[in-house]
Amino acid sequence: MALDWNNLGFDYIKTPFRYISYWKDGEWSKGELTEDNMLHISEGSTALHYGQQCFEGLKAYRCKDNSINLFRVDENAKRMQVSARRLMMPEVPEEMFIDAVKQVVKANEEFCPPYDSGATLYLRPLLIGTGDYIGVGPAPEYLFTVFCMPVGPYFKGGLKPTNFIISDYDRAAPQGTGAVKVGGNYAASLYPGKIAKERNFSDCIYLDPATHTKIEEVGSANFFGITKDDEFVTPYSPSILPSITKYSLLYLAKERLGLKTSEGDVYLKDLDNFKEAGACGTAAVISPIGGIQVGDDFHVFYSETEVGPVTKKLYDELVGIQFGDIDAPEGWIT
Ligand code: COI
Repeated sequence: MALDWNNLGFDYIKTPFRYISYWKDGEWSKGELTEDNMLHISEGSTALHYGQQCFEGLKAYRCKDNSINLFRVDENAKRMQVSARRLMMPEVPEEMFIDAVKQVVKANEEFCPPYDSGATLYLRPLLIGTGDYIGVGPAPEYLFTVFCMPVGPYFKGGLKPTNFIISDYDRAAPQGTGAVKVGGNYAASLYPGKIAKERNFSDCIYLDPATHTKIEEVGSANFFGITKDDEFVTPYSPSILPSITKYSLLYLAKERLGLKTSEGDVYLKDLDNFKEAGACGTAAVISPIGGIQVGDDFHVFYSETEVGPVTKKLYDELVGIQFGDIDAPEGWIT
């Protein structure tokens, strides 16, 4: 299949190989690569009925010298373990997770887009409850798979600002599962996302589910803002997914850009404090937020058409590290 590397979207593309391992009687099977992209599971699988499943998202980056980088893959492995524990699923050991990712990248290497195309190889690790079961309880069996596909920007336009709208809906409950990467959070976001897109917004922004006064998430990405006195601010809450990109940006903003940083409450009433804002995540990378529709008011940050200078510097630093053009902090690149 001839792929136009420069014009990829964020779409499913079947690549030749995926990794699969099965858990039964307290043990993971020896994982292997397979060409079969169909999962054969019992109709009683808890993943299908009760949402007992979790996933990850990470990327492989083609470097200038043609080698391939993984970015903070150990953090994805650890986050999947946290998700697994929350839903009473067996953890995938970190070494097994990393080995699976490496095998899948290597086997599908020709699908890792060229350096400078702006595209990457997106990896989707998935852990689901399977086996013959019907009660509301943890599954007797599990399946862990990792598959991949080349992708372009998640939000159309990439580094071009897009607009968002505050949602009336919640994606997660205050002490629910918002902080873990489980499918239910994303299922809950489909309808609010559809309403936002029908109104020509890229997606919606969720407020904190307890008081609806603070910004939490931007669609399926995290929020950050740059205040007028150059502080990098990002929300903290027990219902936000802890994005690896966001924690990387917190570090880079402080250590590489010399900005003040904080993780805390971002009140909707204080949007005027920000001169720039953006969405960040593995899929989104950094996507500048042009403006936010809040009720009848439309709040513009830096510009609806141009990326702000601080956001651009953060983007260049992050992406430079991911593609191996800039020295990475210890342990970030595999
Ligand atoms: C990611 O950023 O990798 C995500 O998982 C977000 C979304 C595409 C589900």
